[in-house]
Amino acid sequence: MNKETVLSGIRPTGFLHLGNYFGAMRNYVKMQDEYNCYFFVANWHSLTTHPDTKELRQAVNRVIAENIACGLDTEKVVLYVQSDVPEIAELYLYLNMLAYKGELEKTTTFKDKARTQPDNVNAGLLTYPVLQAADILIHRAVKVPVGKDQEQNLEMARNFAQRFNHRYGEIFPMPFAFNYGGELVKILSLDGNGKMSKSENQLATLYLADDDETIRKKILKAKTDAGPDVPNSIKPDYIENLFTLMQHVSSADTVKKFNDDFNNSSSGNCVIRYGDMKKQLAEDMIKFIQPIREKATELQRNTGLLNKIIAQGADKARSSASATIQLVRKAVLG
Ligand code: ADP
Ligand code: TRP
Repeated sequence: MNKETVLSGIRPTGFLHLGNYFGAMRNYVKMQDEYNCYFFVANWHSLTTHPDTKELRQAVNRVIAENIACGLDTEKVVLYVQSDVPEIAELYLYLNMLAYKGELEKTTTFKDKARTQPDNVNAGLLTYPVLQAADILIHRAVKVPVGKDQEQNLEMARNFAQRFNHRYGEIFPMPFAFNYGGELVKILSLDGNGKMSKSENQLATLYLADDDETIRKKILKAKTDAGPDVPNSIKPDYIENLFTLMQHVSSADTVKKFNDDFNNSSSGNCVIRYGDMKKQLAEDMIKFIQPIREKATELQRNTGLLNKIIAQGADKARSSASATIQLVRKAVLG
């Protein structure tokens, strides 16, 4: 039976964090046995917001190493760097003719970026979703494991694919966002301000490269409050986030204990001790991050092996990409 094709990418714009892990990489690892998987480092995409490329190569290597340290097996998946596959740029060119300025200007990410970097509202930023569509369609992928924030980009990829198929013939299947939980996961920043992200408050972001002491310090500083006013309250999102993290790294008994404590708390009778909860979470988080960090560091030191892995990924990715681009050229150019 033919396995379905899966694709996803991560931008090398900083250190990978728990949001990336639980929103993306954890799913990659689960998918590698069931699907025909392509995972890549989106270094072209990072140029839309990070034109200074002094640290780019190092960041690309780190993302590759961290993906492997998280459990991706390069014998099972194709793990590659976007710029090693020029066929993506060619497909981007054709798709750009099918993407309209009005719809691109309306996307949330473009509007956000135009606001945060008003001096550099470049055309690459505007056509970011077109390049992302090319990433996906070049392997004719149907499942795209990504976090919630990427749903709009996926919808645009389907629009471009549909327009292409309609005009030039059925080449592309429709790609959809994918997450095992059904609902897409979102990890919040530990300060309670928005999602955990590479570029936001670094003290409120847990990185896969953080050492034990840093992890402890960040978690102990995470935002909490005086506790719920009435039993069985709805949790504020920053508290819910601590429970989410705990569910991912602590034992079921531990989560149950703190959850029961929360539900039994009210003003004047606060059973839950957030200090204890954070201490427990910190220790469990250290056990979780430590092996990933150590494996990733070791791989980054072994540049010979890393370069070999990257070259092998490029070969495999190009063989799939060139099959698609030949169909596309024929369909568009005759
Ligand atoms: P960042 O926002 O930190 O720059 P990226 O945009 O490169 O991260 O995201 C890489 C992957 O990680 C995407 O699939 C994205 O949806 C996922 N992701 C990033 N941050 C989070 C988060 N806080 N919660 C869940 N998933 C996330
Ligand atoms: N835009 C994605 C992000 O910010 C990264 C990305 C680029 C991507 N190309 C992709 C994700 C293709 C999935 C598929 O997270």
